[in-house]
Amino acid sequence: MDTLLACAVLAGQLCFGPQLAANDVNRGKELWEARCTGCHSLEANRIGPLHRGVFGRKAGTVPGFSYSTALKNFGQTWTEASLDKWLAAPGQFVPGSRMGFAVGDANDRSDIIAYLKSVSGR
Ligand code: HEC
Repeated sequence: MDTLLACAVLAGQLCFGPQLAANDVNRGKELWEARCTGCHSLEANRIGPLHRGVFGRKAGTVPGFSYSTALKNFGQTWTEASLDKWLAAPGQFVPGSRMGFAVGDANDRSDIIAYLKSVSGR
């Protein structure tokens, strides 16, 4: 799946498969640490809900985290596509949600999502 995603991103170029996917995860980890850990951690709810397992989880369902009503009622599962839209513009993708942070660069989003996937056992 990582490989497929990497190939799709690199349409028209050579596809390096698993090696490239691993680099995406490493770069995504650095981006995640730099940009997300002000509010999120892997194992504990902080300003935002914990991130371990978020890929493949239904939105708004981490026990003990006080979500906005909008995200609690959103009903979608976090996938590559939904995480990409969320990270690009959370307030537009889920109107009424309250994550005050976005990632403007599509490549950064894709690497961060690869990292989230890797820490979710997917
Ligand atoms: C300024 C604080 C802040 C930053 C920085 C932040 N978030 Fe969030 N995040 C939140 C809050 C608050 C929520 C809950 C929003 C709600 O309930 O509407 C949230 C929710 C989420 C969710 C939904 C989780 C679930 O259980 O449904 C994901 C995914 C997420 N954030 C990813 C990220 C990523 C990836 C980054 C870094 C690129 C990031 N966030 C940076 C505050 C933040």
